[in-house]
Amino acid sequence: MSSQNRTNIPNSLNEHWMPFSDNKSFKKNPRLITDAKGVYLTNHEGKKMIDGSSGLFCNPLGHGRREITEAVTKQLDKLDYCQPFNQGFGGSFELATRIAKKTPGDLNKIFYTICGSTAVETAIKIAVAYHRAKGNGHRFKFIGRERGYHGMNIGATTVGGMINNVKAFASILMPGVQHMRHTHLPEHKFVKGQPETGADMAEDLERLATNFGGENIAACIVEPIAGSTGTLVPPKGYLKRLREICDKHGILLIFDEVITGWGRTGSAFGAQEFGVTPDIMTMAKATTNGVVPMGVVAVKDGIYDAVTDASSAPEGAPELFHGYTYSGIPCAVAAALAVQDIFDKEDIFKKAKEMSPYFQDGLHSLKDLDAVTGIRGYGMMGGIDIKMKDKPGKAGFQTFKHCYDAGVNFKSTGDTLIIAPQFICEKKHIDEIIEKLRTGISNYSKS
Ligand SMILES: Cc1ncc(COP(=O)(O)O)c(C=O)c1O
Repeated sequence: MSSQNRTNIPNSLNEHWMPFSDNKSFKKNPRLITDAKGVYLTNHEGKKMIDGSSGLFCNPLGHGRREITEAVTKQLDKLDYCQPFNQGFGGSFELATRIAKKTPGDLNKIFYTICGSTAVETAIKIAVAYHRAKGNGHRFKFIGRERGYHGMNIGATTVGGMINNVKAFASILMPGVQHMRHTHLPEHKFVKGQPETGADMAEDLERLATNFGGENIAACIVEPIAGSTGTLVPPKGYLKRLREICDKHGILLIFDEVITGWGRTGSAFGAQEFGVTPDIMTMAKATTNGVVPMGVVAVKDGIYDAVTDASSAPEGAPELFHGYTYSGIPCAVAAALAVQDIFDKEDIFKKAKEMSPYFQDGLHSLKDLDAVTGIRGYGMMGGIDIKMKDKPGKAGFQTFKHCYDAGVNFKSTGDTLIIAPQFICEKKHIDEIIEKLRTGISNYSKS
């Protein structure tokens, strides 16, 4: 079938190996999305559903934003590609300036990547390059956290802590990586916002520094709120304590803000929301409202200066031997600039902050359902744990299917539902998400 004659239903589902999917069952019973507008999606059977997770946390501004489509189209007409190595175009510099205005402290140097995984991989390499530039090449260890998710490249997989992702590739992971314990304690089951207990889990970093030598650790990477595992909110004081321990040992602190970045917590970044400034910060997803792949690494001025000043390479040779063919390509930059305009014009982070209590109340109103064993949330993100019926890891997807039939779409992981509404949601949309979750979860219980 030529691309001009494409219909909503493909002739064959066999050839596409889908990512992170149960390919066999999907191909027996496909769920194809054909249209998206505002907070709604339509599937190939013509059924309209509300988007309860902003795609994969990517579309907080809603689907089909004309401003973004027009900006990308205009850019492609004018300049579709230019190589990003020792060359460039004005837009990527303008975008870097605008991003740096919103990042906290002196995280003012902006490196473009292709996605969240490549942003994390880049952050890891920049940390290594920084320590080498400072004459500390022996700092090669990285500390991640259980239940963390940082993407699927080898470095990002290794620092991550979601067991199935790590186990499958254990034989080829990066050396020198240790993990702190996750912060989810039994008493956090139905806590709204930041738990009061658990800040002492940060002492795991001190313990690893003692056991392996703080002077050998390059960086510690965490998501301010662990997203993909189902929203684990940091206990009060936890992130601040990580910062203190990093400072004590000269360890760089990396915040992976691929989900929490761009307003999900109600502030531009989790860093500002929780009052802790990292040394390096990664972002992706909402940077372009999800419509063109783009990842970003924001780095402290001092790190950039150290790496670029230490270089003794001849003119024209890179200071950092790292980059991507698609680092900051024109259509991604055009989308991201249009997104920045919308953030500013519509005061989007404030909108997210104002809607958060209403959303969190709605989420916690599901507590009475028999199948619900835990609810957590912060800002415009939340996780709902579902009681398993036979073996662990299936309840999330089984419930997702009932909710999909009830008219709300989102992502599930293991026995958990991940809910992350768009920031353009009005109260009636939040009500609709919660009501359809209630129907779907109840139908799962009855099944
Ligand atoms: C915190 C975090 N980091 C990194 C990634 C990887 O991003 P991508 O899938 O764009 O590579 C994700 C994806 O969900 C994420 O949640």
